[in-house]
Amino acid sequence: MTQVAVLAGDGIGPEVTAAAVRVLRAAIPSCSFVDAPVGAVALAAHGTPLPEATLAAARASDAILFGAVGGPGFDDRAPSERPEAAILGLRKAFGLYANVRPARAFAGLDAFSPLRPERVRGMDLVIVRELTGGLYFGPKSLEREDGVLTARDTLVYRDFEIERIARFAFALARGRRKHVVSVDKANVLVSSQLWRRIVGMVADEYPDVRLEHMLADNAAMQLVRDPRAFDVVVTENMFGDILSDEAAMIAGTIGTAASASLGADPATRGFGLYEPISGTAPDIAGKNIANPAAAILSAALLARFSLGDEAAAGRIERAVAHTLEHGPRTADLHEAGDPPAASTSAFADAVVGQLSPRATSAATA
Ligand code: IPM
Ligand code: MG
Repeated sequence: MTQVAVLAGDGIGPEVTAAAVRVLRAAIPSCSFVDAPVGAVALAAHGTPLPEATLAAARASDAILFGAVGGPGFDDRAPSERPEAAILGLRKAFGLYANVRPARAFAGLDAFSPLRPERVRGMDLVIVRELTGGLYFGPKSLEREDGVLTARDTLVYRDFEIERIARFAFALARGRRKHVVSVDKANVLVSSQLWRRIVGMVADEYPDVRLEHMLADNAAMQLVRDPRAFDVVVTENMFGDILSDEAAMIAGTIGTAASASLGADPATRGFGLYEPISGTAPDIAGKNIANPAAAILSAALLARFSLGDEAAAGRIERAVAHTLEHGPRTADLHEAGDPPAASTSAFADAVVGQLSPRATSAATA
């Protein structure tokens, strides 16, 4: 029996994960779900952003469907006492070093890109973000040194961490257009020099995949200049955080940006955490207007990578693409003259409606 731990968290997290759960239930009826608190909600109820019981529920499950964490009133707290510590703790606790963030321009949405439609049409890239190292997890300190208040974040990479994320990216590229862009800042950072050296060594094992090295600032520029030139982008934690938001917006909306966080290579079915990359969106939380597409597409990735159910993953992805193209659409994808924007739950209804006939015709075909 397959079990998914649902960690909905804060802001729009509960609304969008509820939509994703409904779609997953419809696509894979044998799937069961268990809810557990994370983030600001968990801090309020249990005094910690990642309660031990939540970790236990996740350990007892095949995958985590994650919403979002964060909230007002935590700005002065140390990083370890903020809601965000929950997601960082989960990534670390389960060794989820590979973060897969697809960014593709869905049919019918190119008018929403800040780029001209002809520049973005056909964009289909994946950012592979290293997720358990780098600036996020290196030693931190805030101390007075010789009377001067001094803050430190440390960017640490070990050779094996770079090697495994590079292998992940090359393996993923093999199933796609066989092109890897490795993003670093090797003209300034010694950690990037090691990154570049090791990615280059791993590339020798994948002679069929083309490797290009690109400096992070140039990559930010090339992404807006010609997003279609990218297939797989592999990069360290912080650069990946920034570039994946940029790529999502170029595709038209962060509302369709899904992600998978994995601890093994893409061909190995295993435990993973699946989340929309958009965050809590406090301005629209609780209104049933958020776009749940990213959460639903994350559930499709869950079906693919953790449940090994490629058929269900494909069905969900096609149903979302169809709904995005033909409507109904949520408010973030609303144009003057369109019918009134759909609510979060109405969008999920439409996706579920798209699933059933296809599921039936596939079964009888
Ligand atoms: C993301 C988010 C997180 C990150 C935050 C919430 C800690 O921005 O998943 O991209 O920085 O990794
Ligand atoms: Mg981010």
